[in-house]
Amino acid sequence: MSPVLVALFLIQSGIKKNGATMLIKYSFYFLAVAFTLTCSPWIYGQGSCFECHDDPDLTAVVSDTLEISAYVDSLIFASSSHGEFECVDCHVDAEGDPHDEVLGTVDCSACHDDVMEVYHASVHGDASGPDAASCADCHGKHDILSASDAHSKVYPLNLASTCAICHADPKIVKKYHIPIHDPLAAYRNSVHGIALMSEENFDAATCTSCHGNHGIYSMKDPESPIYWKNVPETCGQCHGEIYEQFTESVHGVAVEEGLRDAPVCTDCHGEHGVKSPEDPESRVHPLRVSAATCERCHASEIITERYGIAESRVITFEESYHGLAIKGGSMEAANCASCHGIHNIFRSSDPRSLVHVANLHKTCGNCHPGIDKNVSRGAVHLTSSTTPGRVVKYVKDIYILLIVVVIGGMALHNGADFIRKSRRIVKKREAGA
Ligand code: HEC
Ligand code: HEC
Ligand code: HEC
Ligand code: HEC
Ligand code: HEC
Ligand code: HEC
Ligand code: HEC
Ligand code: HEC
Ligand code: HEC
Ligand code: HEC
Ligand code: HEC
Repeated sequence: MSPVLVALFLIQSGIKKNGATMLIKYSFYFLAVAFTLTCSPWIYGQGSCFECHDDPDLTAVVSDTLEISAYVDSLIFASSSHGEFECVDCHVDAEGDPHDEVLGTVDCSACHDDVMEVYHASVHGDASGPDAASCADCHGKHDILSASDAHSKVYPLNLASTCAICHADPKIVKKYHIPIHDPLAAYRNSVHGIALMSEENFDAATCTSCHGNHGIYSMKDPESPIYWKNVPETCGQCHGEIYEQFTESVHGVAVEEGLRDAPVCTDCHGEHGVKSPEDPESRVHPLRVSAATCERCHASEIITERYGIAESRVITFEESYHGLAIKGGSMEAANCASCHGIHNIFRSSDPRSLVHVANLHKTCGNCHPGIDKNVSRGAVHLTSSTTPGRVVKYVKDIYILLIVVVIGGMALHNGADFIRKSRRIVKKREAGA
C-alpha cells in the first residue's frame, strides 16, 4: 500500500495551505484510506486469503481422520523469504471464491527447479514414500528463511534437530530399516556437536556437512559422500592436511585400491560420535588406541592372512614393556601410533615409515633421548622369528621339557612305588591266610 500512500502524500504536500485547498487536501486523505480498504486485496492477493485465513480457529480437513489448522500468521509470512509473494504463487489452484475444499500440494520446483532436480534423485526424493523429508519438512511452509538466518530450520545450530524429527523417531527408523537409530544422540556428544552447539566453532561439522543437503544418499550408494570409499574426502573437506597424509599411507593406498578391509577415517574415529583423542572415551585415546582400534584388524587372522601382514603384532606388543605399561595406565609409554605414526603409517620397509631402520633411532629417541642406535634397532615385536624372540622360545621349550621330565619322572616313580607296595600287601595277606 505504501507506494500509493507516498504518491498521494507528495501530491497533497504540493498544495498551498489556504481554506479551499485544505478541503482538497483532506479529500486526498479520505481517498487514500478508502483506497487502502477497498483495493488492498486486489493489489495484494493475500488480502483476500487473509479474510478467512487470519482466523486462528480455521481448520482444514486433510483426510477422514486428520484435521489441521488452516491459520496463517500474516506477520511470520511477511517476514519470510517469500513475504513479497502472493499466496497463489505457491497455491496456484486457490483461485475462485470460495476455492475448492481440497487443493493440490505446493510445487516448489516452479521456481527452484535446480534444487528439485537434485532432490528428486536423493533418498528423500518424491518417490521415497510418505515419511521421507519434503521441501517443507526441512524448510517450513510460511516461515521459510534463508539458511543464514538464526530462525531458519536449516540454520547450522537448528539443523540436527530438524533431521532428528524423523531420524530419532523409532517408528520411521524401523519402518525404513535405517541401520543408524539415533544419530543426534551420538552427534550431540561428539567433538563436532559440542563445538557447534556451544557456538564455539561454527566450522564444526553438522549433518549436512557429511551428508549433503538436497543430494542425500544411502551409504550403500557409491555416489554418496558417506560411501566408505568417499569418507576420507568428506572429512577431508575440513581436515585437509590429515587427508593428504592419509591418502599416501599404506591404509589410504589400500582404500584407493578398493580394499574394504583397510580403515577409513570412521573405522578409527566413528562417525556421529567422533571424539577428541584427549577424551578418555575416544577409541584413539593413547591408552585405548592399540586395543580399541589397531587390534580390531591387526589381531584378526583373516585380515593378517589375507594381506600377508606379519601376524601376532598385537599380542607381542601387549606383552612388551610398552604394552604392559599402557595396561598399567602409563600415558608416556609407546602405543602402536607412537612408533608407526597416525595418518602416515607405512610398511617398515618403506623409507617414509617411522619404523624404517633408518628412522628408528629418531622415533625411539622421541621418548628415549640418547638411546643407543643398536638398542633402537632391537626387535620390538618379539616373535619366534626375531633373535631375542628365538631365545625366549628356546627358554620356553626347555622349560616345557623340564616340566615333562620332572612331573613325568615323579609320576613314574610314584606309580612303581604303588605297584611294589600293593604286591607286598597281597603277599602278606596270602601268608596270613
Ligand atoms: C471465504 C473464506 C476463504 C478464503 C477467502 C480463502 N480460503 Fe482457503 N480455506 C478456507 C476454508 C474454510 C478452508 C478449509 C477447507 C476444508 O478443508 O474444509 C480453506 C483451506 C485452504 C487450504 C488447505 C486446502 C487443503 O487441501 O487442505 C489452502 C492451501 C488455502 N485454503 C489457501 C487459500 C488461499 C491461497 C487463499 C487466497 C487465494 C484462500 N485460501 C482464501 C476458506 C477460505
Ligand atoms: C512459498 C510457498 C507458499 C506460499 C507463498 C504460501 N504457502 Fe501456504 N502452504 C505452503 C506449503 C508448502 C504448504 C503445505 C502443504 C502443501 O505442501 O501443499 C502450505 C499449506 C497451506 C495451508 C494448509 C494448512 C497448513 O499449514 O498446512 C493453508 C491454509 C495455506 N497454506 C494458506 C496460505 C496463505 C493464506 C498464503 C498467503 C498468505 C500462503 N499459504 C502462501 C506454501 C506456501
Ligand atoms: C513463485 C516462485 C517461488 C516458489 C513457488 C517458491 N519459491 Fe522459494 N524463493 C523464491 C525467490 C524469488 C526467493 C528469493 C531468492 C533470494 O532472495 O535470493 C526464494 C527464496 C527461498 C529460500 C531462501 C533462500 C535464501 O538463501 O535466502 C528458500 C529456502 C526457499 N525459497 C525455499 C522454497 C520452498 C521450500 C518452496 C516450496 C514450499 C519455495 N521456495 C517456493 C521463489 C519461489
Ligand atoms: C533434508 C533436508 C532438506 C530438504 C528435503 C530440502 N532442503 Fe533445501 N536446504 C537444506 C539445507 C540444509 C540448506 C542450506 C544449505 C546451505 O547451508 O547452504 C538448504 C538450502 C536451500 C535453498 C537455498 C539455497 C542457497 O543456496 O542458499 C533453497 C532455495 C532450498 N534449499 C530449496 C529447497 C527445495 C525447493 C526443496 C524441495 C525440492 C528443498 N530445499 C528440500 C535442506 C533441505
Ligand atoms: C520428514 C522426515 C525426515 C527428515 C526431516 C529427514 N529425513 Fe532422512 N530419511 C527419512 C526417511 C523416511 C528415509 C528413508 C527413505 C527410504 O528409504 O525410502 C530417510 C533416509 C535418509 C538417509 C539414508 C538412510 C538409508 O538407510 O537409506 C540418510 C543418510 C538421511 N535420511 C539423512 C537425513 C539428514 C541428514 C536429514 C536432515 C538434513 C534428514 N535425513 C531429514 C526421513 C526424514
Ligand atoms: C562427521 C560426519 C557426519 C556427521 C556430522 C553426521 N553423519 Fe550421519 N553418517 C556419516 C557416515 C560416515 C555414515 C555411514 C556410517 C557407516 O558407514 O556405517 C553416516 C550414516 C548415517 C545414516 C545412515 C545412512 C544409511 O545409509 O543407512 C543416517 C540416517 C545419518 N547418518 C543421519 C545423520 C544425521 C541426522 C546427522 C546429524 C544429527 C548426521 N548423520 C551427522 C557421517 C556423518
Ligand atoms: C565441516 C567441517 C568438518 C567436517 C566435514 C569434519 N570435521 Fe572434524 N572437526 C571440524 C572442526 C572445526 C573441529 C574442531 C572442533 C572444536 O573446536 O573442538 C573438528 C574436530 C575433529 C576431531 C577432534 C580434533 C581434536 O584435536 O580434538 C576429530 C577426531 C575429527 N574432527 C574427525 C573428523 C572425521 C573423522 C570426520 C569425517 C567423518 C570429520 N571430522 C569431518 C570440522 C569438520
Ligand atoms: C588407523 C586409524 C586412523 C585412521 C584411518 C584415521 N585416524 Fe585420525 N587419528 C587416529 C589416532 C590414533 C589419532 C590420535 C593421535 C593422538 O594421540 O594425538 C587421530 C587423530 C586425529 C585428529 C586429531 C588430531 C589432529 O592431528 O588434529 C583428527 C582431526 C583426525 N584424526 C582426523 C582424521 C581424518 C579426517 C581421517 C581420514 C582422512 C583420519 N583421522 C583417519 C587414527 C586414525
Ligand atoms: C579396519 C582395519 C584396520 C585398522 C583399524 C588398522 N589397520 Fe593397519 N592395515 C589394515 C590392512 C587391511 C592392511 C594391509 C594393506 C595392504 O597390504 O595393502 C594394513 C596395513 C598396515 C601396516 C603395514 C603392514 C604391512 O606389512 O603391509 C601397518 C604397519 C599397519 N597397518 C599399522 C596399523 C596401526 C598402527 C593401526 C592403528 C593405529 C592400524 N594399522 C589400524 C587394516 C587395518
Ligand atoms: C611414546 C614414547 C615412547 C616411544 C616412541 C618408545 N618408547 Fe620405549 N618406553 C617408553 C616408556 C614410557 C617406557 C617405560 C615403560 C615402563 O614404565 O615400564 C619405555 C620402556 C622401554 C624399554 C624398557 C627399558 C626401560 O628403559 O624402561 C625399552 C627397551 C624400550 N622402551 C625401547 C624402545 C624402543 C626400541 C623404541 C623404538 C622402537 C621405543 N622404546 C619407543 C616410551 C617410549
Ligand atoms: C615401540 C615401537 C612400536 C610399537 C609400540 C608398535 N610397533 Fe609395530 N613395529 C615396530 C617396528 C620397529 C617394526 C618393524 C620391525 C618388526 O617387524 O618387528 C614393527 C612392525 C610392525 C608390523 C609389521 C609390518 C611391517 O611394517 O613390517 C605391524 C603390522 C605392526 N608393527 C603393527 C603394530 C601394532 C598393531 C601395534 C600396536 C598393537 C604396534 N605395531 C606397536 C615398532 C612398534
